[in-house]
Amino acid sequence: MTLENDMKEQLIERAVLARRWSYSPYSRYAVGAALLTRSGKIYDGVNIENAALPSTICAERVAVFKAVSEGEREFTAIAVVTENGGSPCGGCRQVLAEFGLETLVMLANGEGKQTGEYQLKDLLPDAFTPDKLAS
Ligand code: THU
Repeated sequence: MTLENDMKEQLIERAVLARRWSYSPYSRYAVGAALLTRSGKIYDGVNIENAALPSTICAERVAVFKAVSEGEREFTAIAVVTENGGSPCGGCRQVLAEFGLETLVMLANGEGKQTGEYQLKDLLPDAFTPDKLAS
């Protein structure tokens, strides 16, 4: 999926801004995400940690769940911002894969400098997708 440069910048900027709201007192690793729907809306998300550590949720999943809970299921791109340009975890790759392997995944650091760009299918080869359950 090709995306205009100004849309890429806008998406990264939204993820940078969202990151301020990360609730990450345990890891101190703040993550911001911004998800672009095919209809042109942007849903952002942050990681939300919990004293019961496994109850933590990642920023990407918050963005996806916010969007899906409002009726969106088609995603064009997601920007993920961390201090060091970290890449989405396996669980978030799987959650994104549910809605399409073409989604563009952009990574950026805390200053909003883009550090990587992938298609989801390259981050999650041979993904387990909904069609695998259809018999
Ligand atoms: N985290 C995310 O928000 N997204 C990822 O893809 C990787 C990890 C969060 C979870 C936790 O709050 C912190 O980063 C450290 O793992």
